Amino acid sequence: MTFIEAPMALLAELTHRCPLQCPYCSNPLELERVAQEMRTDEWLRAIREAADLGCMQIHFSGGEPTVRLDLETLVAGATEVGLYTNLITSGVLLDEARMKRLVEAGLEHVQLSFQDSEAAGGDRIGHYTGGHEKKLEAAKLVRAAGLPLTANFVVHRQNADHLEAMLDLAVAIGAHRAEIANVQYYGWAILNRAQLMPSRAQLEAMVATVEAARERLRGVLVIDFVVPDYYASRPKSCMGGWGRRFLNISPSGKVLPCHAAETIAGLEFDNVRQRSLGEIWRDSSAFNRFRGTGWMPEPCRSCDRREIDWGGCRCQAFALLGDAAQTDPACGLSQHHAHMVEIAAEDSAAEAAEFVYRRYRNPSRVGSEQ
Ligand code: SF4
Ligand code: FES
Repeated sequence: MTFIEAPMALLAELTHRCPLQCPYCSNPLELERVAQEMRTDEWLRAIREAADLGCMQIHFSGGEPTVRLDLETLVAGATEVGLYTNLITSGVLLDEARMKRLVEAGLEHVQLSFQDSEAAGGDRIGHYTGGHEKKLEAAKLVRAAGLPLTANFVVHRQNADHLEAMLDLAVAIGAHRAEIANVQYYGWAILNRAQLMPSRAQLEAMVATVEAARERLRGVLVIDFVVPDYYASRPKSCMGGWGRRFLNISPSGKVLPCHAAETIAGLEFDNVRQRSLGEIWRDSSAFNRFRGTGWMPEPCRSCDRREIDWGGCRCQAFALLGDAAQTDPACGLSQHHAHMVEIAAEDSAAEAAEFVYRRYRNPSRVGSEQ
């Protein structure tokens, strides 16, 4: 029987509404609508249950979490039960009054996302005119409020060459940390894979830039760098292992082992409106399906890294092989690894077409949601 640890953090996806339309968004293709979103009291109960379960941190995310007018109430609720509170935001809706209320509610940290190092690229990739400028203003508000700031940059073939400028921007806005993450390909990003996949030469240049910047900015900026899986030889330990450290609640209350878990066909997700978070964490079929090592096929089953990377990413195995129970093809020991490398070479060499932007797929039904 698999030992079940307490989760470390809850990712609370308060809403899928967002003014931006990034083509690599990690939200599902079928975005949840405002009428499906959990009410304030339902979120507050879920937050209390997360603390009871042993969570130490809560990350308020979306979509854009600041579109929820009860965000301050939820931050206060999380603070009251002792959770460390982090806001993951595009920043475009933040103003001084809102920032003040969030700080009074107990907000402890902000992660601000940028689409590029400068306005033309940033506004094009996020499909939101004036967005980059608003983000710079938001960064000032966060720092003026005295909160630590992380600058998040998603990198891909269309902005990889600006990496050094992104790191300079992080320093200029007073960020303590920069998270440079290559796109992960599921959901919206897989629709845009050929528009986003960097070449191997771009990856090598990114690695060199990060190494030099870590040296140059020692003591000034901490830099996290997530390499593209398609060029890896061993997979990342996705989510720190399925059902081990993290849980995710969707706007409508579905409890997911990772943000992309809904891309895996055949899994059923319990809803925190119907069952307690503790029961779901321990007993739900979706969490138990890939927990531990019992589900693993060869080569993972007899590999000495099986409790280090936990077989890699289930969503990636499903996206590329149609079977989430296979070894992540990012692993060089997978029989499908060579195919993954070929896809990366082909996509990164293809002419980049227009982005498929993230949006509600049936706009006639959206009404006031966007
Ligand atoms: Fe990780 Fe499995 Fe590859 Fe071993 S075989 S390195 S456990 S993905
Ligand atoms: Fe779902 Fe990796 S993103 S397991």
